[in-house]
Amino acid sequence: MRVARVEEFGGPEVLWVAEEPRPEPGENEVLIELHSAGVNRADVLTRSGRYHAAGQPPIVPGFEGSGVVREVGASVTGVSVGERVIAFGGRPGFYAEYVAVPEVHVVAMPDGLDDDSAAVPPVALLTAFYCLRRLARVEPGETVLVWAAASGVGDVAVQLAKAAGAQVIATVGSDEKVAWALENGADHGINHSSENVVDRVLELSGEAGVEVVLDTVGGARFGESLKVAGHGGRVVSLANVALEGSEIDTRDFYPKNVTIYGFQITNLMQRLGYDPREDLLELANLVVDGGLKVHVDRTFPLSEAAEAHRYLEERRNRGKIVLRPTEGG
Ligand SMILES: NC(=O)c1ccc[n+]([C@@H]2O[C@H](COP(=O)([O-])OP(=O)(O)OC[C@H]3O[C@@H](n4cnc5c(N)ncnc54)[C@H](OP(=O)(O)O)[C@@H]3O)[C@@H](O)[C@H]2O)c1
Repeated sequence: MRVARVEEFGGPEVLWVAEEPRPEPGENEVLIELHSAGVNRADVLTRSGRYHAAGQPPIVPGFEGSGVVREVGASVTGVSVGERVIAFGGRPGFYAEYVAVPEVHVVAMPDGLDDDSAAVPPVALLTAFYCLRRLARVEPGETVLVWAAASGVGDVAVQLAKAAGAQVIATVGSDEKVAWALENGADHGINHSSENVVDRVLELSGEAGVEVVLDTVGGARFGESLKVAGHGGRVVSLANVALEGSEIDTRDFYPKNVTIYGFQITNLMQRLGYDPREDLLELANLVVDGGLKVHVDRTFPLSEAAEAHRYLEERRNRGKIVLRPTEGG
């Protein structure tokens, strides 16, 4: 089968299409023919050697995707051959024509969901959902600051926060993205490349600050997230996109009784036992019902995986990028 493989750590050019043996499903595994695979920041970090759990090359990146079950292991009872599924966390990785995943990493695709939309719930959708619903517990009437609101995670976070009845302040890196975020439902947009985010947020929220911050940028920006959090505020830190240190002043959060949450999806599943299937199904159904839009900005064939990474790294995406592993090219 064809895979897009990282031959050595480096820039997008180290992603090559290669032939690998199709994985044999183990006793509790299913083999999926992939139609779509989500492209995430973590894949870029994996490729460049900066992802904490990447291992050593050769690596086939990709944490999530959708397709059709072609084989099931002897002990699999809940998934059938021919079923359309959403899947996460498999081998060799989802930048491949086929992937083997444990049965418990599979959710049946609801009718009406297209392959591309079905490929992306396990990372961006689930991340935004878990951070806002389970950690920050956004309430109607609260104000939520979403950093990088045109990113895969930020896009969904804006929509989920609005659906929860919150006011949303969105930050993005260009005026074009500000317009996009407003169209996506944000109440206010801030260009974090040209405006002072702390001043602008406090102008919008009043000196009281905001109830919730979804910090999808981190690094130097994390200190700003703490400054704009109000009394009793919740700040969820889930990223460090620039891979840099943060300078914080503890006086920016303890006097306000602010809670800081950390979130990392893979560790939540692998180390803390979170089973995301129920939440994934809820999200997939929300997409089918029209309560959540998956914005697939661009799709790429497997042979253009390097191009997909360039697109993401140049910060051109608004929403998600998807690979089509079994599409020609
Ligand atoms: N902890 C977890 O489990 C988890 C899960 C999913 C994602 N994440 C993290 O959440 C973040 C968003 O993920 P995603 O896949 O949605 O990302 P994405 O679509 O690639 O978007 C990332 C965006 O961050 C903005 N950004 C701000 N400062 C940046 C900088 N210094 N360098 C590059 N980009 C910068 C850019 O938007 P602008 O042009 O608007 O500035 C960029 O498009 C990533 O850092 C990712 O690693 C974490």
